[in-house]
Amino acid sequence: MIEFCGIPLAHRVINGSGTFDAIAARRAFGDAIYEHFPFAAFVSKTVTLEPRQGNPPPRLWELAGGMINSIGLPNKGLHGYLAEDLPKLAELPVPLIVNVMGSSREDVARLVAAFSERDEVAAIELNVSCPNVKTGLVMGANPQELAALLDVVRPFSEKPLIVKLTPNCASPADVAAAAEQHGADAVSLINTLRGMAMDPDRPGRLWLGGGTGGVSGPAVRAIALAQVREVRERVELPIVGMGGVQSGRHADDLRQAGADLVAVGTESFRDPLAARRIADEMSRFTEGFPANGTRGVGVASH
Ligand SMILES: Cc1cc2nc3c(=O)[nH]c(=O)nc-3n(C[C@H](O)[C@H](O)[C@H](O)COP(=O)(O)O)c2cc1C
Repeated sequence: MIEFCGIPLAHRVINGSGTFDAIAARRAFGDAIYEHFPFAAFVSKTVTLEPRQGNPPPRLWELAGGMINSIGLPNKGLHGYLAEDLPKLAELPVPLIVNVMGSSREDVARLVAAFSERDEVAAIELNVSCPNVKTGLVMGANPQELAALLDVVRPFSEKPLIVKLTPNCASPADVAAAAEQHGADAVSLINTLRGMAMDPDRPGRLWLGGGTGGVSGPAVRAIALAQVREVRERVELPIVGMGGVQSGRHADDLRQAGADLVAVGTESFRDPLAARRIADEMSRFTEGFPANGTRGVGVASH
C-alpha cells in the first residue's frame, strides 16, 4: 500500500479525468470490473455547476501518436452528478476523486464546497484550464490568477485539493509553485495540449466541431516527462504525472522524473484494462524503491 495526501492506495496508477467511464464500464462488463478495478483511485470527468452539452461533432481526430479531442466537457452539472452519478461511483472499490471546473472563482468555490460535504469523495481535483469570465485569464495559465483562485476556494474544503495544471502556458512550474504557496495539497499534469486538424474533404475548414481540441496520447509523453521534472524541481507537493503512458516503463519514467502517482488516459480507450497491466509492470520497476519522500506521500507498507 502507498499513501497519497493521506489516502491509502493499493498502487500508484489512477486514471486521467474524462478517459474512463466507470459507470458505463460496469454496464458493459458487469460487476467483474469492480472486482479487479484497474485504478487505485478513480478520477471523475469534469463536473461543472450547470449541465453542459459539450461541443458539436466531430469530437475526435486520430493522430499517429494519439488523438485530438474536442469533447467539450459534457456533464449533468452539479445537481445531476450528485443525484445520478455520485451514488453509483460511491460503489467503486477505490477512493473517488471528483474533478471540477468553473468559469469564476465563486463557481469553483461552490463546487468545492458541495463536494467537501460528501463522505463519498476522497479528494477534489481542480481543472483550471478554463478562462475566468471576470478576468479573461485562463485560471491555471497564470500564477497570480491561480493564487487568487486558491485563496477563494481553499477555505471551503478540508479535503485534499489537487490542482490539474495546464501545459498551455508559459511556465507550469511557476503555476505549481503558486499552487503550493496558496494551499494546494497536490498537483497533476499534464492536461491536453491545444491542437487542431484540417478537414481532409473540405479545404480550409477545421475538422473538429469545437475548432481546436486537446492533444493526448504517446505524442505528448516527452512533454509530460519534461514538465513533471520541471515541476518537481520547484515544489515538494505530491505530483500525479500523466501524458501518453502506455506501459510500466513509461509510468516508471514519470516516477523517476518526480511523479508520486501516474495516471493513464488515452491508453484506456485502446484497452480499458491497460492500467491494471501498467500497474503490474510498474510495480516490478518500483519494488524495493522508497517513495520520493515528498510531503504527503510515503510507503505505508509493502
Ligand atoms: C477524451 C478525453 C477526455 C478528457 N476529459 C477530461 C476532463 O473531463 N477533465 C480533465 O481535467 N481532463 C480531461 N482529459 C485530459 C486527461 O485527463 C489527461 O490529462 C490527458 O489526456 C493526458 O493523458 P493521456 O495522454 O494519458 O491521455 C481528457 C482527455 C481525453 C483524451
